[in-house]
Amino acid sequence: MTEITLRRPDDWHLHLRDGEMLSAVAPESARHFGRAIIMPNLVPPVVTGAEAVAYRERILAAVPDGADFTPLMTLYLTEATDPADVVKAKQDGIVTAVKLYPAGATTNSASGVRDFDKVRPVLEAMAEASIPLCVHGEVVDAEIDIFDREAVFIERVLDPIRRATPGLKVVMEHITTKDGVDYARSGGDTLGATITTHHLVINRNHILVGGIKPHYYCLPVAKRESHRLALLEAATSGDATFFLGTDSAPHVDPAKESGCGCAGCFTATNTMSILAEVFEAAGALDRLEAFTSLNGPAFYGLAPNDARTTLRKGAPVSYPAKIETGDGPLTVFDPGFPLHWQVL
Ligand code: NCD
Ligand code: ZN
Repeated sequence: MTEITLRRPDDWHLHLRDGEMLSAVAPESARHFGRAIIMPNLVPPVVTGAEAVAYRERILAAVPDGADFTPLMTLYLTEATDPADVVKAKQDGIVTAVKLYPAGATTNSASGVRDFDKVRPVLEAMAEASIPLCVHGEVVDAEIDIFDREAVFIERVLDPIRRATPGLKVVMEHITTKDGVDYARSGGDTLGATITTHHLVINRNHILVGGIKPHYYCLPVAKRESHRLALLEAATSGDATFFLGTDSAPHVDPAKESGCGCAGCFTATNTMSILAEVFEAAGALDRLEAFTSLNGPAFYGLAPNDARTTLRKGAPVSYPAKIETGDGPLTVFDPGFPLHWQVL
């Protein structure tokens, strides 16, 4: 096969930031994606419906004229979130989902949730109104090893929340373990999981062997190879539980190449070429469309995009190693292998 046509893909987990960074990265996502779930972890976070409306306006202003791109907004769940505001924002067509960050788990998560009992009324209102909860699934306890934080979260936090709130639709964001794959598979049609591009490509050796590679550091951190293989199997299986959420998370180079570097891989630019390469190598090109364009909308109760995207295989495609932003250079994720599939 040297050409493949898909429904236009969507990105079900994306960081666009604000200001100069937003202006630089919004066109990168708008080029290949029809819709994206926009993460609300700005400083300060997007907490209310009114803040989501204002942020959506700034995003739309940063997207090139005529681009076929719709930002789907989320609210950042805090212990003070008002259930009525969330339900109204959904009914008014402002937000698509709510994001749960355990406080301290990742970039700009300080306003997240410490005591999960405090958000129970919001979760119950969301279950009632059919508003999905997007979950950053890592515990933050200092005594839990960083490589175990996802598995422990499933057992200690996620499973109890789902049992206490039957009917709540949950997306396990950016799963990185076989434990995540297995739990997502067992959850029936109220449970979905996003998988990033970079977690299909790298394991923890890529970050640490031969010198520390800050541009491969993200959260949840990449795990050992057996977990990457479980993610690859899940993504390429066609199983409707799993869909693409790139978690493309831009940080300028000085913030990454630092004594205390930020977490996040920027993959918006070359994700579709990388995925085509990965799916082809797995003998699953015919299931790429399910992962990038069908399973996500089905979970969110939306139609797939009408527009089509064609990728063609040929001589290696080159992407810029860095993108210039008004805030400084931004490194594009390097998969470490040549990319032969070009988005036409
Ligand atoms: C994200 C960011 O930079 O906002 N970083 C990351 O490593 N993925 C936050 C997140 O999704 O955890
Ligand atoms: Zn993220």
